[in-house]
Formats: sequence, structure tokens, C-alpha cells
Amino acid sequence: MDNIINKINRLKREKNAIILAHYYQPLEIQLLADIVGDSLELARKSKNTDADVLVFCGVSFMGESAALLCPDKKVLLPAPNAGCAMADTITPNDIKELKEANPESAVVCYINSTAETKAQCDICCTSSNAVKIVKSIKEKSIIFVPDKNLGAYVAKQVPEKEFIFHPNGRCPIHDELRADSVIKVKEQHPDAKVLVHPECGEKVCDMADFLGSTSQIIDFCQNSRNEEFIICTEIGVTERMAASMPDKKFIIPDRNQLFCANMKAITPQMVLNTLENMRGEVIISEDLRKAAIKPIERMLAL
Ligand code: 13P
Ligand code: SF4
Repeated sequence: MDNIINKINRLKREKNAIILAHYYQPLEIQLLADIVGDSLELARKSKNTDADVLVFCGVSFMGESAALLCPDKKVLLPAPNAGCAMADTITPNDIKELKEANPESAVVCYINSTAETKAQCDICCTSSNAVKIVKSIKEKSIIFVPDKNLGAYVAKQVPEKEFIFHPNGRCPIHDELRADSVIKVKEQHPDAKVLVHPECGEKVCDMADFLGSTSQIIDFCQNSRNEEFIICTEIGVTERMAASMPDKKFIIPDRNQLFCANMKAITPQMVLNTLENMRGEVIISEDLRKAAIKPIERMLAL
């Protein structure tokens, strides 16, 4: 392993490259990355780095967002075929149809979407800033895609707006976490706080002591005096917290369910191969870039 890390570090220096990783990546990838973050932090930081090459350890929409924001940099995906199941629940045509049926609505698009979908939307959001973004929009009616669960969470915080969702939009990893699994671990750990990502279904969200994005969940645990936490989101977040906060106990309600296989597709050897061969580049046509960058830049401007 040390040998692989040494080779990665040498290639990073030679090629002026950095490695970015999402919190859902395997712990060994998070530990070798220069920047670890949630979707919003990674989008912001990829824009502000001086590196020429960004090796993006995440699913494909995350690499696409970095490539849209940094047309002068090479963005490489160690696992180019690892997509996000939620991003694939909705097509650009679905959005065209929603817009035709609701011409007075603004379209807010969760960043977990393809560049083609983003090109059809007015503004992007992530789970960290979705409430703030929706509140900033002047239109009363909002088409919120793809995730109807995140949308329902935002709708509760912004009751003055009307929301339109697409029935297919969801993350199978979070949406299929059963309330029963959470109840079972809560019975075993009655003092544990229940923390939930808003991509989870309504029954699980209703059990939350705290509902928030990846980085908000991490901040909550860091700042809490509580010693036990039940974490209802992808296991990468929980494993990182368990490693960095050894005096606290983190409980995963259903390990098999909360495992995003596409997020776990990357190994250190694949990162090394990517840097050696410079393969897996995200290529986006200029026409698509011009259309898809607008909602991301509008989000970042806020
Ligand atoms: P964050 O926006 O919290 O980084 O989440 C990304 C994601 O894929 C959630 O499933
Ligand atoms: Fe996509 Fe869900 Fe995996 Fe997040 S956990 S990357 S939303 S499939």
C-alpha cells in the first residue's frame, strides 16, 4: 500500500494533480485524497485550486460538475462508468414535459443530476443549501428534481412555495432504508441521537433528532456532547466519523442498504492507474457546457 501511495504522490507532483474525494468513498480513498468534502464543498474547491489535473473520486455527475466549472483543467474519473442511480431516475425530456405543463414554475435541480438534465434547469442546489436556494427564488411555484424526498424536506421548510416533483426521482440507497431497521437499533441504543440525510423516506425522516446534509451531519456529531449516534446515510460518512472521533460511538442501522456500490468502485490502484495513463477524462461539448454551467454558477453565486 505504501508503495502505491508513494507512486501516487510522485505522479501528483509531476503532473500538478490533486485528488478530490466525496465522503461516501472507501475510507482508504478518503485518506489518500487532498480534499474530502460533500458535493457542495467539492464543487467549490475544484473551482478554486491551482492544479492542472483533478482526479475525482466520486460518481460521474461529480466529475462532470468539476469539468463544467473548470474547462481549463483535465478532470479524470478513476471509475468513469460509476454513475449515480438517482441522477438516472430522470431524463432531460421528463423536465421538458414538467416545464410545458407548468410554464410559470422555476426549475431547481439537485446537483445529483447529469449535465444534460442541468442544462434544462434554472438553478442547482445541493442537500447543504437546498432550503436557502429555494427561498432565494422569486417564483412561487418550484419544479424540484430529481429527488422527491429532498424536495419534500425542503417543502416543509418553505411552506410559502408550491412544489412539483417527478414521481421517479429518488435515491434507492437512502429511500429504501426501512424505519424498522432504525427502530431496532434505537431500541438497542436508546440514548443515541438519530441523524438522517433528507434523501431518506418520510418515515425515517420523521424519526430524526437531526435532519441534514453530509457535512451538516458531521458538524452535528463533532459539536454534540452526546456519545452515541445512529447515522442514516451512506456508510462512508459513518466510517470516516468513527475513525476521526474515536471517543464517540457510531451505529449504522443497515450496512447492506446504506452501501452505494458506485461510490465504492474506486481503489488506490485505480487512482494510480488513472494518474499513470491519464485516462477517464470527462469530456463535455462546449454547447452542453454553456447550458449546464448556468444553474451551477447561479447556485455558487449565492
Ligand atoms: P451531499 O450533497 O450531502 O454531498 O450528498 C451527495 C449524495 O450523493 C447523497 O446521496
Ligand atoms: Fe447517488 Fe444515492 Fe449513491 Fe448518493 S447514495 S451517489 S444519491 S445513488
